[in-house]
Amino acid sequence: MYATDDENLVIVSYKDDATAFDGLKKGTITGKGVVNNRMSNRIMQMLEENGVPTHFVKELSERETLVKKVSIVPLEVIIRNISAGSFAKRFGVEEGIDFAEPTIEFSYKNDDLHDPLMNSYHALALGLATKEEINTIKSMAFKINEVMKAYFLTLGVKLVDFKLEFGRLADGTIVLADEISPDTCRFWDAETNEKLDKDRFRRDLGNVEGAYAEMQKRVFGE
Ligand code: TMP
Ligand code: ASP
Repeated sequence: MYATDDENLVIVSYKDDATAFDGLKKGTITGKGVVNNRMSNRIMQMLEENGVPTHFVKELSERETLVKKVSIVPLEVIIRNISAGSFAKRFGVEEGIDFAEPTIEFSYKNDDLHDPLMNSYHALALGLATKEEINTIKSMAFKINEVMKAYFLTLGVKLVDFKLEFGRLADGTIVLADEISPDTCRFWDAETNEKLDKDRFRRDLGNVEGAYAEMQKRVFGE
C-alpha cells in the first residue's frame, strides 16, 4: 500500500509473494500479482454495477490500483457454497458437498491468535463492529455471492467458497475492500472439479502458475 496526495486514496501494489498457514509456508507464484490485480478489479466493477459499494477507484497498471482508503473491520467474512477446506475438516465431512443454502462465518483477523472462528455476537462483544455494520456486511456478502456465483458459472467455474474483508470510509460507510482473486476464493472447474486456485500452492498440488493463468484466461479470454 502506498499513500497518495489525496488522504482519502491509496495505491495497492500486487506482488507475486504467496504465504499460507499464517505465513509458515512462503513462496512465489510468478505472475500472480497481475492476475489478482486485474481479476479483483474486474469483479469489484461488476459488483459496483450490481449496487455493492467497493473501495475500487481506478486500475493504474498491471499491478497497481487506486482505491479508497478504509479502516478495515477486523473480520474475515467467509461464504461457502460447497464443503471444502476448514469446513470439511472441522465437521468431518468430505469436500464437494453442495449446500442447499450458502453459509457465512466470521474469523477474527488476528495472526497471533491464528484468526479464530467467531460468531457475530463475539464480534459485537469485542466491539469489532456495530450491530448495524454486521447486518450490512452479512447482506452485502450474500449479495456478492449471488453475483459472483452466477458470473463464474458462465466461465465454467464453480465458486466453492471465498473470503471477504470490509472497510469503513472516513464517513463510516461500509465498503468491500481487500481483494477477490484465486488467493481468496476456491474455484473448481465445473466439469472436472480441477482446482484453479491457491489450494494448489497450499497443498503442493503442482501447476500453481497454470491455475492462475487458466483463471485469467477464463475471465479475460486471453
Ligand atoms: P478455509 O476453508 O481454509 O477456512 O478457507 C475458506 C476460504 O477463505 C477459501 O476460499 C480461502 C480463503 N482464505 C483466505 O482468503 N485467507 C485465509 O487466510 C484463509 C485461511 C482462507
Ligand atoms: N492468510 C494465509 C497466510 O498468509 C494465506 C492463506 O492461506 O490464504 O498464512
